[in-house]
Amino acid sequence: MNIPAHTNSLEAYWLPFTANRHFKKAPRLLARAEGMYYWNHRGEQLIDGCAGLFTSALGHCRPEIAAAVADQLGILDFSPPFQFANPLAFELAAMVAEITPEGLNHVFFTGGGSESVETAMKIALAWHRVRGQSQRQRFVGRERAYHGVNFGGVSIGGMVKNRESYGIGLPGVAHMRHTWLDENRFLPGQGPAGAELAEDLQRIVDLHGADQIAACFVEPIAGSTGVLVPPQGYLQRLREICDAHGILLVFDEVICGFGRTGAAFGAQSFGVTPDIITMAKALTNGAVPMGAVAVKDEIYDAVTGAVPEGGIELFHGYTYSAHPAACAAGIATQRIYREERTFEGAAALAPRFLDRVFALRDLDAVTDIRGYGLLAGIDLAPAQEAGRPKPGARGYAVLQAAYEAGLVVRVTMDTVILAPALVAEDAHLDEIVDKLRRVIAAS
Ligand SMILES: Cc1ncc(COP(=O)(O)O)c(C=O)c1O
Repeated sequence: MNIPAHTNSLEAYWLPFTANRHFKKAPRLLARAEGMYYWNHRGEQLIDGCAGLFTSALGHCRPEIAAAVADQLGILDFSPPFQFANPLAFELAAMVAEITPEGLNHVFFTGGGSESVETAMKIALAWHRVRGQSQRQRFVGRERAYHGVNFGGVSIGGMVKNRESYGIGLPGVAHMRHTWLDENRFLPGQGPAGAELAEDLQRIVDLHGADQIAACFVEPIAGSTGVLVPPQGYLQRLREICDAHGILLVFDEVICGFGRTGAAFGAQSFGVTPDIITMAKALTNGAVPMGAVAVKDEIYDAVTGAVPEGGIELFHGYTYSAHPAACAAGIATQRIYREERTFEGAAALAPRFLDRVFALRDLDAVTDIRGYGLLAGIDLAPAQEAGRPKPGARGYAVLQAAYEAGLVVRVTMDTVILAPALVAEDAHLDEIVDKLRRVIAAS
């Protein structure tokens, strides 16, 4: 497969979260996909170690999803989502509400994860306001968190590179410490150390006053920073502190949602029910951009009940909220999850996945491995230059070498993230981990 003539120049496209100038000298193009594999512009096959970008839980180019989207584009390509709705939006919302934890039965659609986070922040503020608590304007986030790239999400997020170029962000955001702990190194699943880190929330309450805080946002497993699995008891303790002080607990499940942890949501895997869940990615198997926010009934009821019938209750929404093609992709995806019992399959596969990944610990360069469900992070010792560590260089070299070796992984600084499709088979896991082993060993 050749690059088509109109893409012979790579100059016009500004790639996101990418070393643009370097990329354009040695581009990594993914031109076609099917199941567990990509093919690049040279026609070489690569195994997908990260399910797209945690999106393609069912593997790539599922014919049922493609057909549903294609059909939908010939039936209703667009309908305004404000004061009108397309029928599929109701069907998909009901399907999502069916698998969220009990009580989270109302679903607001967005265009992706970042928009879901902003939406959840606004809903939190709106809910406190209608209850006469509009002074609750502070948010709590966490170091090393990723909540997308819009200003709210960057402000509650905790990844320095995503923050340092963009000024002060939202005022009134406090951060808890992250949950990486030396004591839990190389332990699969939830580490025994660290539940007390949840007390950071109590300290923030003590500092600012409980009635100042609107919501606490956490990813059940912090994904983009390199897969930080919550210590045993940590999420439970956050829930208790939120309950004690009227703070909404929001789980950002943009990565964890739809089976990645072996249940529909991390909330169910970890046995903690938040007040709001943000989601995106595998909602549509990544086939069409879409995100969603599921909220507890009492939040929906209070916000919608606060204005007389006929009045708009939440002045918020996106042109592409509940886009018909996205809804069609979402419905087709959710049907497959049910029919093929995908989440149960993921739970059954997880121990075999983690066994293989944790076997990489014998490599000299590997300094820690974490994992839960079908999600794992492998830390590599940073490369040295003139006797000093050069953070990120080894990770980037591994990303490039993996691509040349026929493997697509996600790398954040010097951490490799693996998140295969939930439908992966043992032979796929072998291929991913074997290729990664060779690449790391040579790095
Ligand atoms: C936890 C979390 N929240 C939000 C986002 C942002 O999603 P998007 O890139 O669709 O805006 C991501 C993306 O990876 C994520 O992992």
